[in-house]
Amino acid sequence: MKTNRTLGRSGIEVSALGFGCWAIGGEWQGPDGQPLGWGKVDDDESVRAIRRALDLGVTYFDTADTYGAGHSERVLGRALGKRRDDVVVATKWGNVFDEETRTLTGGDDSPEYARRALTASLERLGTDHVDLYQLHLSDADPRRAAELRDQCEEFVREGLIRAYAWSTDDPARAAVFAQGEHCAAVQHTLNVLNDAPEMLALCEESGLASVNRSPLAMGLLTGKQRAGRTLEAGDIRNTPPAWMTGFKQGAGADEDWVARVDALRDILTSEGRTPAQGALAWIWARSPQTIPIPGFRSVEQAEQNAGAIEKGPLTAGQLAEVDRMLGR
Ligand SMILES: NC(=O)c1ccc[n+]([C@@H]2O[C@H](COP(=O)([O-])OP(=O)(O)OC[C@H]3O[C@@H](n4cnc5c(N)ncnc54)[C@H](OP(=O)(O)O)[C@@H]3O)[C@@H](O)[C@H]2O)c1
Repeated sequence: MKTNRTLGRSGIEVSALGFGCWAIGGEWQGPDGQPLGWGKVDDDESVRAIRRALDLGVTYFDTADTYGAGHSERVLGRALGKRRDDVVVATKWGNVFDEETRTLTGGDDSPEYARRALTASLERLGTDHVDLYQLHLSDADPRRAAELRDQCEEFVREGLIRAYAWSTDDPARAAVFAQGEHCAAVQHTLNVLNDAPEMLALCEESGLASVNRSPLAMGLLTGKQRAGRTLEAGDIRNTPPAWMTGFKQGAGADEDWVARVDALRDILTSEGRTPAQGALAWIWARSPQTIPIPGFRSVEQAEQNAGAIEKGPLTAGQLAEVDRMLGR
C-alpha cells in the first residue's frame, strides 16, 4: 500500500492514517453534566504521542474546537510547534462551549459564528490557517449548510482554510457540501462493525476523501473492552448517550458487540497484526478513498496504530469473509 493518500480532490497529500484528537482533549461535559470526554488525560503524554506519530510518518491530525472545550486544539498546537507546516491540520466548528467551565452550551449554524469560531481555533492552534475545516453539526439543516459551504469558499479565498468538509453520516447532507469547489472530504463513521456503502459510493463518485471517525469502534475493536469492565467515571463510554452503540450504562462493552469482535479476531490479527491494526487494515481495503483517524492516549497506542501503515490493507478475500461472518 502507498503510505500516503490524497485528501479528495484538493490534491493535498496526507499519510494514509490520521490521528484523532478527541480523547486527548480531556474531560468536558454537556449542559446536563453528561461527560463528553474520555476521562482524565496526561497532556505531556499526549504531546509525546503526537511527536512520536510525526516521527513515524503521520502527517494528518483531526481535532475539533469543542474537544475538551478548546483543550485538544491547544495541546495539538503545542505538540506540533515548529513542525506545523509539515502536517495537515483538520478541525471542526458549530458547537458552542464555555472554555472556563469546559461545558458544551449549544450549537450555532450561522456564517457569522463560523468566522468567530475559526478565529478562535487559529489562536488556540497557533497557526494562520486550517487545512481542512469541518462542520461539526452532523444533522444541520441542509439549506443552512449551503450558506456555510459558501462561507467556507470565502474562507478559502481569504487564505484562512485550504479545504472543507462536513462531519455527517448522512450522504444527502454530504452531497450538499460536495457541490462546493473546495469541499475535499466527508468525515463519517466507518469501521469493520459499521459499514457505510452509500457514503463510500458518494465519496468515490464525487472524488471526496472518506475520513473515518471511530475506526476502532471507540476502542471495542482493540479487544481491550470486555463486557462488565467498568470504565472511568468521566469517560463518555461509561454513561453512553443515546447515539452511542457498543457500550452499556456503567457496565462497559455490550456483550453482543464483544462477541462480534471475538468472531473477527483471527482475520484481524492475520500477518502478525494487533486487533487495532487489523481494524485499520479493513478500512484501507474497503475503499481507496478512506483515511482512518483512530483516537489515542499514549505513546504506546500511537506506535501501534502508526505501525499499521506498513502492514497495509486486508485482502479482498478477507473482506468477503468478514461480510460472511457478520451476515452482511
Ligand atoms: N462527530 C465527529 O465529528 C466525531 C465523532 C467521533 C469521533 N471523531 C473523530 O474520530 C476520532 C477517532 O474516533 P473515536 O475517538 O470515536 O474512537 P476510535 O478511534 O474508534 O477509538 C479510539 C480509542 O481506542 C483506544 N485505542 C486506540 N488505539 C489503541 C490501541 N492501539 N490499542 C488499544 N486501544 C487503543 C483508545 O481508548 P482507551 O485507551 O481509552 O481505551 C482510543 O481513545 C476522534 O478522536 C475524533 O477526532 C469525530
